[in-house]
Amino acid sequence: MLSCWPAVLRGGRLRMMMMNREEGLCFSRKTVLAPMVRVGTLPMRLLALDYGADIVYCEELIDIKMARCERVENDVLGTVDFIAPDERVMFRTCSKEKSRVVFQMGTADPERALVVAKLVENDVAAVDVNMGCPKEYSTKGGMGSALLSDPEKIEAILRTLVNGISKPVTCKIRILPTLEDTVSLVKRIENTGVAAIAVHGRMREERPRHPVHCDYIQAVAESVSIPVIANGGSSDIVKTFEDMEKFREATGASSVMLARAAMWNPSIFRQQGALSVEEVMEDYIRYAVRYDNNPFNTKYCLCQMLRDRVESPFGKRLHAAQTNEEICEVFGMTDFYNKTKAELEARRAALQTSCDQSEQPKLEDDVITMPVRFERRDYPPQISPKMYLLEWSRKEKLDQPVYETEQRTQDRAFQSTVIIDNKKYRSAMWEKSKKFAEQAAAVVCLRTLGLPEGRIGEEHSGLVNKRKRDVKKYTVLDDNESAARKRHMSEVPQEEEEEMICRTKVVNGVCGPTTR
Ligand SMILES: Cc1cc2nc3c(=O)[nH]c(=O)nc-3n(C[C@H](O)[C@H](O)[C@H](O)COP(=O)(O)O)c2cc1C
Repeated sequence: MLSCWPAVLRGGRLRMMMMNREEGLCFSRKTVLAPMVRVGTLPMRLLALDYGADIVYCEELIDIKMARCERVENDVLGTVDFIAPDERVMFRTCSKEKSRVVFQMGTADPERALVVAKLVENDVAAVDVNMGCPKEYSTKGGMGSALLSDPEKIEAILRTLVNGISKPVTCKIRILPTLEDTVSLVKRIENTGVAAIAVHGRMREERPRHPVHCDYIQAVAESVSIPVIANGGSSDIVKTFEDMEKFREATGASSVMLARAAMWNPSIFRQQGALSVEEVMEDYIRYAVRYDNNPFNTKYCLCQMLRDRVESPFGKRLHAAQTNEEICEVFGMTDFYNKTKAELEARRAALQTSCDQSEQPKLEDDVITMPVRFERRDYPPQISPKMYLLEWSRKEKLDQPVYETEQRTQDRAFQSTVIIDNKKYRSAMWEKSKKFAEQAAAVVCLRTLGLPEGRIGEEHSGLVNKRKRDVKKYTVLDDNESAARKRHMSEVPQEEEEEMICRTKVVNGVCGPTTR
């Protein structure tokens, strides 16, 4: 296997950049799983690596959506999850792929791209920018192949990423209508300091059925000194493992990236020869269950592997399945499903026990802390720990709680301290929003004092019972009055929250740096 250093050493400026960078993923002489929306989720990536792929790209994830995500370590699955505000897992990864997974993003904004790159930087091997997607949802936001007509924007995004993160940065392009324009663009891209460039040898308006332009990829490979990854050979050139080398030779590229051929059968990366699709589907399901993959995503990928058999009786049964359990049933893998679920459940229970033990309050300086995260779904609508604490302070004739909040600059996360009865309480965990950080602080206080916090299932909570009674009473009123009173009901907690937030003291300014 060739080393990636000789190519890098050819350019002086490039060498300086690379030397300042952590020794990272090398893109020379590699077989690569291409980024594929809906296909390139964790099970497919792990499977491709098992079969022999050297590098795997995740599906393209849009910067705006990713920027809103929270990074959560999932101790039950052993994964790192990036979770959207609506609780959807946008990106799930694990240590097994950490040194070989490339995070691909869709972006048209250098600063936003950097925020996202920094969010995932420590969990991936490299970051890639998609500059080839011709779909309208991508191009209308200036992303994907729209970037190809804006080289200044390309340079701004790539330079910002190269200078802003410690991991290698790459991009994936389509070719331009002329060889000269394509070569001139990739030279500009190379000068930004990217570690490699993937070239899909089709023009923006060309469809997957059109032949791939190996001559364009070859011209690119000859004109730059960074590794070029050839892509676009699935339909007409690459059918077997050996064909990957033929494609590499035909393009003069350093590495080869496969999308559709790998989607149809990821065992194409196996040097010893591909496995049957049936075997591969079972391997895929094992990862899907083990990593709790979204069942619709699991089904989608299996249907891609079935190809024209998707309309067969078997394909129809698969199509009817709604859960990973039902998918396992279709494949006669119910025992595997039950065993894996039982293992995960046992791990969850063991973690819960150790978590309960670690949730004892600790005194740090003059603040009582606990590792608590506020989960909105654990509380009924309109009920919150802050309200409970306020009610309690009134009952005890104490000054009402005061919340002080800090924000970290590196990830803009929040941490609040609540002061009540001259004591301070804080969660050791940082939250995505100021509101959640305040709720977490309130939870720490309530738990330390042994008070109810309003969680679903807290049977003897006075506030919950009172509200239930009030709602019942209002149901017998006439419509208008009922509406007015219901409005009043729902406004009360809102007002109380507003009142508490007004008294919140924000340390270092809401967006300012923190001293910690
Ligand atoms: C289902 C599917 C999803 C794709 N999603 C992406 C994507 O998220 N990002 C990207 O850069 N290209 C995406 N592509 C394009 C592929 O990465 C690749 O460039 C193209 O399919 C040509 O390679 P092939 O001939 O090996 O299929 C996708 C292709 C397919 C078939």
